[in-house]
This record gives sequence, structure tokens and C-alpha cells, in this order.
Amino acid sequence: MHNEERRICKCSLCDTVVEVLDPCGPELICCGRQMEDVTGHAGSPQREKHILLMDEHDGQTTLRVGINGHENSEKHYIAWIEVLADGKCLRQYITPPQEAKASFQIAAADISAGRCYCNIHGLWRFSAQTMRRTPELAPWAHAQP
Ligand SMILES: [Fe+2]
Repeated sequence: MHNEERRICKCSLCDTVVEVLDPCGPELICCGRQMEDVTGHAGSPQREKHILLMDEHDGQTTLRVGINGHENSEKHYIAWIEVLADGKCLRQYITPPQEAKASFQIAAADISAGRCYCNIHGLWRFSAQTMRRTPELAPWAHAQP
């Protein structure tokens, strides 16, 4: 299970989101109801707004959300970005007005999958093959200070 994504569940009443680190019991209950599995989106009209853009520079891999970025207001924001790499789960939590990006000291080639969580549009999952990895889409990664 080291290289697998963990199950994420959400309460439809209070919006609590939990991650199952070690599955062993039956269902999860919150507010007196069974929590819903958040399975993640594969394809939808919102995909381009939530796709992970990955770029590597000086041994650091940076991920940003959305072809044209993603809104990051108190009402609509990316809560976290996560990658699975070489048996590790690396997650950056983001709080508005922080930009929806995360940098990890890891080679892009070691990343097998990535996820991000939007408070409005939910969980977005990408394999390394379905993340965008082109400098043309991520010129910020090569900008001079
Ligand atoms: Fe969103």
C-alpha cells in the first residue's frame, strides 16, 4: 500500500474530509450518516482548471493547478496538493491567499501520481502520464528572479 493513494471520505452534512491511513473497519460515520467516498474526477469540463502542471528545476519539482491557474479566495481554493513518489506521500497544504502550488525536493521522474483537493470541485487525481509537464505551459518555473 506504500505506493497507493489513500481513500478519502467526506461528510455530506458538515463537509468534514478524512483520509483512511489503514483500512480495517466497516464504514465511517459522521453526523450520524455514512461518509461518502471521494473518488476523484477523471474527466469533466472543470478538468483544465484543476490539472496538475509539473516542472522540475534544480532538483526540485513544482506543481501548480490549472492551465490558467486556479482561483484562491476564501470561498474557492485548492486546499492541498499531493504527490506519490518512491514510496512516499508528499503533501503541501495551502491556505488562501497562497498560490495553488507546491514544491518538493524530489525528481519529477520519481512521481507516480498526484492529487489536489478543491473545496468546491473536490478531489482531482492524475497519473504521472496525465499531468502536464511542458515548459511552455509552465514558464514561471524558468523565470529569472
Ligand atoms: Fe475549483
